[in-house]
Amino acid sequence: MSPSADYAIETHNLRKVFGSHVAVRNLSLSVPRGEIFGFLGPNGAGKSTSIKMLLGLVRPTSGDSFVLGAASGDVAIRRRIGFLPEDFRFYDWLTATELVQLHGRLCGMTNAKLRERVPEVIDLVGLSQHQDRRVKGFSKGMLQRIGLAQALVHEPDIVFLDEPTSGLDPMGRLMVRDILRAERDRGATVFLNSHLLSEIEVTCDRVAFIKNGEVVVTRDLSATLAEEVRVVVDARHVSQQTVAGLTRWAEGIDVDQEHLRFRVRSTDVLPDIVRYLAASGADIFAVTQEHVSLEQIFVTIMGEDTSL
Ligand SMILES: Nc1ncnc2c1ncn2[C@@H]1O[C@H](COP(=O)(O)OP(=O)(O)O)[C@@H](O)[C@H]1O
Ligand SMILES: [Mg+2]
Repeated sequence: MSPSADYAIETHNLRKVFGSHVAVRNLSLSVPRGEIFGFLGPNGAGKSTSIKMLLGLVRPTSGDSFVLGAASGDVAIRRRIGFLPEDFRFYDWLTATELVQLHGRLCGMTNAKLRERVPEVIDLVGLSQHQDRRVKGFSKGMLQRIGLAQALVHEPDIVFLDEPTSGLDPMGRLMVRDILRAERDRGATVFLNSHLLSEIEVTCDRVAFIKNGEVVVTRDLSATLAEEVRVVVDARHVSQQTVAGLTRWAEGIDVDQEHLRFRVRSTDVLPDIVRYLAASGADIFAVTQEHVSLEQIFVTIMGEDTSL
């Protein structure tokens, strides 16, 4: 497989097995450049393992993956990648400024650029007052903020964030949201791992739901796309031929004795569907529609894991 220039991330059948446990099953993803992509799933779903494979930190059992057009782990592109790991350990004898400087330097930033950019990014994450303090005394939330600063200091083309709001207060969460939007506006691609629906829902352009190492559903969340509508028609005398004709407007068609269930992209097509059914000889008793919210999908997928 060779990568396409349009995508910041591409994977094909990426798989990771630990011993006898399959952590990630055949992950195939294409993330367009400039998008905020959310990877949503309960604890243990395989999100962190996936990010580590994308970064070349965990070797896949099989499959291909490319980031910014290069094979994952390619040293030449590392400088263009920002990463906030889920469980990070920083050199805690460094001050906030020194730590961010170190990461900037590792990414090839010049001293002149560091002098300008480091205070700016520390301010961005709200730590200016603490810039000369050693990281050792930092709270979990402050560490998370400094983690974000080191991931962004070199203005990377793509940023991987693994549970970026963990340990943050509500103000911190809002800050992360604003930062991610600013990153996208700058043209960067963001890959965000989270087990929190709310976090994904408000920030992401697209989401993939993952459970037991497998992507179950992907959804485009960009504002203009109409929400998918599920329709239930209470009808009799619907022939198989009539059902087949419905595929013009609907998908996911399911029929039982008294009900016809299907999905449509927009309710605009409903009058046409009703006219068609009536003209085909069906007796229609009721037509109801329900919006399938992201939350319903989330609850269905997470099952009992929603509290995690
Ligand atoms: N280094 C490892 N060795 C063995 N099992 C692992 C390792 N890393 C992760 N796992 C297992 O793989 C599964 C997915 O883990 P992970 O990717 O961390 O999930 P998530 O980030 O979605 O919570 C879990 O069952 C976890 O216990
Ligand atoms: Mg994780």
